[in-house]
Formats: sequence, C-alpha cells, structure tokens
Amino acid sequence: MADVRHRLGKFSEISLGQFKKYEVDGRAVMVLNMDGQPKAYLDKCPHMGGQMRFDGKRLKCNLHGALFDAETGMGKSPPVEEGAKLTPVKLVLEGDDLFCDLPEAPTFTWSDEL
Ligand code: FES
Repeated sequence: MADVRHRLGKFSEISLGQFKKYEVDGRAVMVLNMDGQPKAYLDKCPHMGGQMRFDGKRLKCNLHGALFDAETGMGKSPPVEEGAKLTPVKLVLEGDDLFCDLPEAPTFTWSDEL
C-alpha cells in the first residue's frame, strides 16, 4: 500500500511546547512542536483509542490518563501495557509547510456472493 502525502498547514502556527490536531483521510493526526521541531502521532491511544493531549513534555490520554513519552511515543503508565506505543506519523517540513505521509486508508469491497 503506497503512502499518500497530505498538506497539514503551517508549522509556525504551532507555538513551542504546543500541539495541533488535523484530520487526514478520516484519521486524526497530532503534531507537536517539541524544541522547535515537529513530531507527529496518530491521535489514538493504543489502549482503547482515546484522544491525546500534550503538556509540552508528555502526552496524556484523555480517556484513562495513560502517559506517553512525547519523543518516542512509548507508553509510560497504566493502563497501557508495557511496550505499547503511539503510532508515529512521518512528517516533511518544506519551508514552513507541514506535510505528512500516511498509508492509503483501507478500502473495503462488498461481495453479494455468500
Ligand atoms: S484509552 Fe488511553 S488509557 Fe485507555
């Protein structure tokens, strides 16, 4: 499955230590401004799919409160199981324009034959 490039917006719109969320092909992408460098994850907790927030250093799940290392995406506290991590999203910064590469969204075909 090929990656598809999507334009997100201007990186300068995200202040240092802040984050912004985008919807890309029906998937939520969270871009962090960490030390002046962008970093992105799918906004979906590996526990039960909760949305995340960023406090400038860590990510925290809004649903059950699990903490994640913002640099690596690794889970740091229950109820996330050891070794679980957020899904990283590949970013490209061209000037001030942010792009992300996501795999094509899965498509389903129906068959009338049973
Ligand atoms: S859904 Fe994130 S900790 Fe449960």
